[in-house]
Amino acid sequence: MHYFAYHAGELYCEEVPIREIVEKFGTPVYVYSGKTIRRHYKVFDSAFKEIDHLTCYSVKANSNLAILALLAREGAGADIVSKGELYRALKAGFPPQKIVFSGVGKTVDEIEMALKAGILMFNVESLDELSLLGDIAKSLKIKASFALRANPNVDPKTHPYISTGLRKNKFGIPEEDIIPAYLKTKDNPYLEALGLDAHIGSQLITISPFVDAIKRLRALYEELLSLGFNLKYLDVGGGLGIPYDQEEPPLPEEYSSALIRELKGLELTLILEPGRVIVGNAGVLVTRVLFTKSNREKNFIIVDAGMNDLIRPSLYQAYHRIIPVYDRDGETLIADVVGPVCESGDFFAKDRKISAVKAGDLLAIMSAGAYGFVMSSNYNSRPRPAEVLVEGDQFFLVRKRETLDDLISHEEIPALYL
Ligand code: LLP
Repeated sequence: MHYFAYHAGELYCEEVPIREIVEKFGTPVYVYSGKTIRRHYKVFDSAFKEIDHLTCYSVKANSNLAILALLAREGAGADIVSKGELYRALKAGFPPQKIVFSGVGKTVDEIEMALKAGILMFNVESLDELSLLGDIAKSLKIKASFALRANPNVDPKTHPYISTGLRKNKFGIPEEDIIPAYLKTKDNPYLEALGLDAHIGSQLITISPFVDAIKRLRALYEELLSLGFNLKYLDVGGGLGIPYDQEEPPLPEEYSSALIRELKGLELTLILEPGRVIVGNAGVLVTRVLFTKSNREKNFIIVDAGMNDLIRPSLYQAYHRIIPVYDRDGETLIADVVGPVCESGDFFAKDRKISAVKAGDLLAIMSAGAYGFVMSSNYNSRPRPAEVLVEGDQFFLVRKRETLDDLISHEEIPALYL
């Protein structure tokens, strides 16, 4: 459910015509619906209302400060993976006590910054990291609360690049090493075992991998309790999928009841780290058709957004629906929708039945709110797009389009060449 819809043949975000946003800020431009984000957050969070829980929005999905601030105001916590995300989360107003720090490669200064900020806990992914965390906590004299991230070795049945809970993936600690690792920390006054964590992958469209993982986590959790660890949090990560095309992912209610069923009789606070399900369908990338051409074998629609702006189709062959901003009375053709970047991998759709747009027309690439702008780059020296947030009949520029000067602002020519 989202708030992008046609009124009188023209695409709107909430009560604002996309055309108006484009007139003001140009293309390509990311457009987000505040109402959709709030709705998704509320539906997700309230699905867990019968148990103690903390919904920590996964900042990596979309880390625009305005979106973070919106979610912080709703009462969300944050799941971060870098000091950059910590910085953003704090700026946006997330209380440190609602922040969990995930990630397989935390550095000394990232750990220091998070300890000083007083975050809720570190989701630790290796024995090396655990011992580094202990050392840093000791040197700063700040107790570090942690959860170990178990790798439950379950197949999330998603794209291999976004599967994380299999033994062949780099994430987490094998199940059989988990208990010994906790035991090692028992006498360390600077390490407090506060929880247990896992995250098995992203864009999951069935419940069973989540259930398999939580069964394994529960067994570990109970064993740790019986060994005298005073755990309070079970963090099951994120990963709930969204419909991009015809998928029918579980509803938050179905997801929550399956998880809650597995936790019967345990007293704990469940941590959830949803990203995509909150913001994915709350954003679109609006792009203008530059040219159309046909080489008799294929039709191409060349647009002004490129793989540098939205890399998901190139990187994962991900499907994004593409619709015209002005409905073209049903006239269609089969075409590749491609960007201007000098790579054959620079496409948004292949052999897609699409509205018969012409140069100058606007297209909306749907479901671009998660892993869209955050994965953008300046490849081909393309300034990154603007981001706009809509609230009802108002819209706000929440990130300016980059300028040519932005592109070179960190570079320097050695005096030798001047
Ligand atoms: N927690 C952890 C530890 C994660 O690594 C992730 C995502 C999440 C939570 C949030 O997962 P979500 O609810 O959004 O599925 N760039 C890829 C997705 C990468 C996901 C990485 N980790 C894509 O565009 O599909």
